[in-house]
Amino acid sequence: MNSIRRLYFCRLAAILSLTLSTVLTAAQFRNGIVASGNPLATTVGVEVLKAGGNAIDAAVAVAFALNVTEPHNSGIGGGCFLLIRRANGEFVAIDGREMAPGKATRDLYLRGGKADTRLSQTGALASGVPGALAAYSYALTNFGTLQIKAAVKPAADLAEKGFVMTAHLAGRFRAMAKKIGQFQGTRDAIWQGKTKLPVAGVQFRQNDLARSLHAIGEEGVDWFYRGPFARNTAKWMEKNGGIMTREDFAHYRVGLRQPIRGTYRGHEIVSFPPPSSGGVHVVQILNILENFDLAARRDDVAWRQHVIAEAMKLAFADRAHWLGDPDFAKVPRGLIDKTYAKRLAEQIRPNKLAKVDGHGIPPGSESDFFERHTTHFCTADAEGNWVACTATINTSFGSGVIIPGTGVFMNNEMDDFSVQPGVPNAFGLIGSEANSVAAGKRPLSSMSPTIALKDGKPIIALGAAGGPTIITQTAQNLIAMLDFGMSPKVAIGQPRLHHQWRPDLVRVEKTMDVKVRSALERLGHRLSLTGSIGVSQIIAVEKDGAFVGAADPRGIGTVGGY
Ligand code: GLY
Repeated sequence: MNSIRRLYFCRLAAILSLTLSTVLTAAQFRNGIVASGNPLATTVGVEVLKAGGNAIDAAVAVAFALNVTEPHNSGIGGGCFLLIRRANGEFVAIDGREMAPGKATRDLYLRGGKADTRLSQTGALASGVPGALAAYSYALTNFGTLQIKAAVKPAADLAEKGFVMTAHLAGRFRAMAKKIGQFQGTRDAIWQGKTKLPVAGVQFRQNDLARSLHAIGEEGVDWFYRGPFARNTAKWMEKNGGIMTREDFAHYRVGLRQPIRGTYRGHEIVSFPPPSSGGVHVVQILNILENFDLAARRDDVAWRQHVIAEAMKLAFADRAHWLGDPDFAKVPRGLIDKTYAKRLAEQIRPNKLAKVDGHGIPPGSESDFFERHTTHFCTADAEGNWVACTATINTSFGSGVIIPGTGVFMNNEMDDFSVQPGVPNAFGLIGSEANSVAAGKRPLSSMSPTIALKDGKPIIALGAAGGPTIITQTAQNLIAMLDFGMSPKVAIGQPRLHHQWRPDLVRVEKTMDVKVRSALERLGHRLSLTGSIGVSQIIAVEKDGAFVGAADPRGIGTVGGY
């Protein structure tokens, strides 16, 4: 090949690869879409859609697959919030949050009058009664088309055949080896008789988990809540200083909640209500920010980031005081009131920090109440069903405990309670009496599965993983798309910040322009630089009706569809 022809072919190859990557990165799908934090789980969801399943079927199959491929984040030993927009326009908010066992008391974690958060974070006392499986089953039975046997099968097969261990999961195992290696059931399931943890590149099989998932497929959720799983767990708990009983499993019920509904610059925002704080504070932050014309000062990035951080700070001061399980605590509806937001917005100054010593008093705070490490995924189908689901076992590998023989990691969601007023949890969050421990109560969450609508039609579904940053990631992604017209892919790649009132500092991603960071510091913000804040997933619909989506480049997730 002469040099001119070689140059021509090189150019052609470059153009083709550019075109191909444009097509691949901005893929559009006509019939259905899945965005999840793991490529294998996304593929499972797409296959379900292709086989004629709807968005609810796909979401549940993805959830089971994530249990297998990312056991550090979520699973049937934990909880979830599922927000469903049905093709007929109805919204359903299914609360599969864990419940404190019947023997839990307010001072469960106090030793000598002081909170011992090791107990709420690791081992037998750390777990609430898992709710995720009950929520998935409820969603399938009422809004899906698949039987649970079909929805769980891809995950059960994946656990049995195994998958190539990712560097990501191998890294989580390494980082958490000390915590999870304390428990015999976990050692048996993960180390599998070897002296070393599985490394990246090996075929990772989970035979016990496969058996548990197949048993759920064959015998239904009673296998878990009323059968061998409940029995074995109760036995293990009794032997190991836990308090969870068979009755706790038998009494578990999903909650059906009224979604939070707000508006933002002409869009309707529908999100998850208490016991999540997510929906309340995503809407509250957006309400505060509606008092500032962010788009008009597009180029004044430092001003915008300052205003956003201040809005977050004000919202999290309220979170620490007011939020808890609405079945136990009175959570004022006024938190999402526009006039209250305007009052809070007046505290935000362009040139100095708002002094926020504590929570505000929203309207109706005495009379008008809400009735009462993690993964996010979204699905949608051509019929008009949309799902935004966030699922978690709390921090990495939850309590660290696998009940022997089950392959199921148990959550450490009890740490999301305020174990003692003023004592920070694993995320540095403090809480009040509204989020104290009580039997049968659900710990406060930040999970924020959210769907935005324009003229009554869903246009975006999103959410995130990452403790309290879930709320602020979701708000920032919505601002990027709704104020600045960014695509999901561009929005999700924007540098993030996070303020949660206490500690009084702004966490800022290193990718944020150094000039903006310096300007924030000159305003008095204390910055804490971090590599990345959380992992979001977004799907959206374009004007021509095609689905697009974005998985967070900070994680290993993917978007798929057909
Ligand atoms: N476990 C984290 C959350 O629910 O916010």
